[in-house]
Amino acid sequence: MNNAVILAGGQGKRMKAPIPKPMFRVLGEPMLEWVLGACEDAGLQNICVITGYEADQIRNYLGDRCETAYQAERLGTGHAVMQAIPFLQKDTDGNTLVLCGDAPFIDSETIRGSLEHHVAEQNAVTVITASVEQPFGYGRILRTDNGISGIVEEKDATPEQRKITEINSGCYWFRTADLIELLGEIKNDNAQKEYYLTDTVAIALNDGLRAGAFCSQNPDVVLGANDRKGLLTLNTAARMAVLEKHMANGVGFTCTDGIIIERSVKIGAGTEILPNTILRGNTVIGENCVIGPNCVIENTEIGDEVELNTVQAYDSRIDAGVKIGPFVHIRPDSHICSGAKIGDFVEIKNSEIGEGTLIAHLAYLGDSDIGKKVNIGCGCVTVNFDGIKKSRCEIGDYAFVGCNNNLIAPVSLGKYSYTAAGATITTDVPDYALAIDRGTLHIKEGYTLRKYAKKKD
Ligand code: UD1
Ligand code: CA
Repeated sequence: MNNAVILAGGQGKRMKAPIPKPMFRVLGEPMLEWVLGACEDAGLQNICVITGYEADQIRNYLGDRCETAYQAERLGTGHAVMQAIPFLQKDTDGNTLVLCGDAPFIDSETIRGSLEHHVAEQNAVTVITASVEQPFGYGRILRTDNGISGIVEEKDATPEQRKITEINSGCYWFRTADLIELLGEIKNDNAQKEYYLTDTVAIALNDGLRAGAFCSQNPDVVLGANDRKGLLTLNTAARMAVLEKHMANGVGFTCTDGIIIERSVKIGAGTEILPNTILRGNTVIGENCVIGPNCVIENTEIGDEVELNTVQAYDSRIDAGVKIGPFVHIRPDSHICSGAKIGDFVEIKNSEIGEGTLIAHLAYLGDSDIGKKVNIGCGCVTVNFDGIKKSRCEIGDYAFVGCNNNLIAPVSLGKYSYTAAGATITTDVPDYALAIDRGTLHIKEGYTLRKYAKKKD
């Protein structure tokens, strides 16, 4: 079986945060996640991640998704792979892909293509390379007339070698049994006093084994981030790639300012996304919607022809034809049924809002089941928390809830019931009933004439 070993021990000092570099996020996902995803997409199931700096952050993130091995000291990429030897020894028959956890754009096509090449060429090691305009900082590929002869690091290279533009991506296929042998032969006699994994190429050739290079068609496979500026470059590249994919699928963008769409999001044709809109996680949006401006939508399923303007929505469902906004917060576990309209300054939490229901302005509806064609008046609040426990409110179909009502949960309003403005509803209201809760209004004629009689102005 084939293995993958992902190197993720590095710190990323220039990021200036106590986070392992592969855990920095590109378009909402840790770089390590991009690399793991590419391995999984390429069908690799036997994966070992090498941890080092702040190892627990990576272990906690991975859970039991794959194996990890700990590198106690950062002594180089060769030393990092040595930590995976017990993992490799479990199955030495196949090949092992080594990748860097901080170069997120490795893709499954490159992984598959390079494996085919590696196997066909009967190589002990195949380096995945790319040709780039700016090779500075990368290991350069040394070619001979009949193949490659090695890799030289920037710091060890001669001025002549530094002109080479074919570089090492940091990803390699090894025959697993040969990798274990080669790791035993790496020395640290170089400018950085590190055990370079790159030395395996020259060592293999010296041992009479075959070594080769596979040049990826995707030059982005080499891109990594050493600082925040580099991370922004990766984010920008990923962001534009996602937007272009959606445009090809018929999604409209008049202006892409402030629009961030994570890879996992699905959007139907004819939908328009307006500026300052962030779409995250497992969000699915239907066709012919207008989303934005100024929306943050996370893990939310949205039907066709929905309009959201300045809305935040999390872990919820919004059905077809719903109009929401501006300034609305849809908190988790809410379901807004088709045709409902929710206006400004409304918060909904863990509630069902029935078909065609209107909540025009200034309301809080939490832990509530609201029927169809209900009218919720301005300033209506479900009082769902008594300081100890949360309770639900139920509002029947066609109910009319007056302005500034407090519904003291648990309480229910029957179908076609009607509550007068300003009511505090503490008991259930039957179907078709009116609930009115109003003290006598006293009018005192001439009151302020008397009160202010002695005031100068
Ligand atoms: C390495 C390659 C270089 C290649 C470049 C591609 C070597 C010697 N050089 O250089 O030829 O062009 O990648 O990006 O391999 N890591 C550990 N433990 C360590 C050292 C590194 O886990 O002791 C991890 C890092 O977290 C990182 C990866 O290995 O994910 C690569 O290490 P890095 O130090 O960035 O290597 P480069 O100097 O960039
Ligand atoms: Ca690097």
